[in-house]
Amino acid sequence: MSGTGNTLRVAQWLAAQARARGLTAEVHDVETARVAPLARPERGDLLGVLMPTHAFTAPWPVLRFVLRAPFGRGAPAFVLATRAGTKFGRVNLPGLEGTGLYLVALLLALKGWRVRGVLGLDMPSNWTACHPGFGPAAVADIIGKAQPKADRFFGALLDGRLRFGPGSCIALTLGVLLAPVSLGYLLMGRFYLARLFFATERCTGCGLCARSCPFGVLKMRGTPPRPYWTWACESCMRCMNFCPERAVEAGHSWGIALFFIAHLPFAAWLCGAFTQVTGLAAPTGPWTLFWTRYSLQLLALAVAYAGFWWLIRVPLFNRLFAWTTLTHWYRRYHEPGTKLEDFGK
Ligand SMILES: Cc1cc2nc3c(=O)[nH]c(=O)nc-3n(C[C@H](O)[C@H](O)[C@H](O)COP(=O)(O)O)c2cc1C
Repeated sequence: MSGTGNTLRVAQWLAAQARARGLTAEVHDVETARVAPLARPERGDLLGVLMPTHAFTAPWPVLRFVLRAPFGRGAPAFVLATRAGTKFGRVNLPGLEGTGLYLVALLLALKGWRVRGVLGLDMPSNWTACHPGFGPAAVADIIGKAQPKADRFFGALLDGRLRFGPGSCIALTLGVLLAPVSLGYLLMGRFYLARLFFATERCTGCGLCARSCPFGVLKMRGTPPRPYWTWACESCMRCMNFCPERAVEAGHSWGIALFFIAHLPFAAWLCGAFTQVTGLAAPTGPWTLFWTRYSLQLLALAVAYAGFWWLIRVPLFNRLFAWTTLTHWYRRYHEPGTKLEDFGK
């Protein structure tokens, strides 16, 4: 899986190394594998699962891919997670893949694969909804450091050695401690973030974002057509970072409004207003409260986003949200050598 090309680039490095040794290498997209599932492993096959890290763990499409993958019957496999490498001045800071590597490794092992190694690899952070992309020099430096590390790891695997470094165990420990964050992201952040994306007036309605969305979750709706982000958005950042018009933003001011809107129905329930209207008793007990609140928040998010999507068709509102989002000022990022056509090849 790759949103902005980092993981695809790493997969291509590994494939090139395998070919240089006279082996055959294929790079499959997790979503393509959904349509045409992977063949059952044969003698001499090695499976690598490569993914970006999302919220200190593996993104859901990767877990789904592994769950649907054929049984390994003892065939070897490895897991590689690219993560947010950063560079401030001369200092390079690592990202944190958390539970991602070992969660996927565990699922593979349960499906009969023999996991031979795991690696967390720093590539430039692509989360441009949260922070500006790094400049060309920092990007080149981070990628330049990643390639030899990936090559050493894969070379060792091809030589038949195991590769489980102490770094991945530290990441796992931190990932377990941060598991509430990963879970919170899965339950709430993932849906909430998909409700922040919008197209500004720069959008020409070309539909490139929808066509190139790896998960097909972006829909062009209305006249003139404008992208609509559905629940299944993974926040992989491809639409935002590849839009030729720079028309995709993550609405931070809208996010603040959305936070209050999402809490309104629950607050109304607690105040008894909802109870009066519906005749339903107010929820009690921690789990009932949690799930009631969660369902109401999701419902509020869905309704609010539909309203927002109509509202930003009015130029004044569109400009208001476009100018009050931080992403308006953020540099975009995608792996420098990767073009949209390279995905899904
Ligand atoms: C929604 C989201 C969440 C992320 N969470 C993490 C994280 O928890 N830890 C980390 O090191 N990097 C994180 N990243 C950064 C990416 O994993 C990293 O930049 C990766 O190389 C992107 O690969 P891709 O271009 O193949 O999608 C996150 C990125 C996004 C978009």
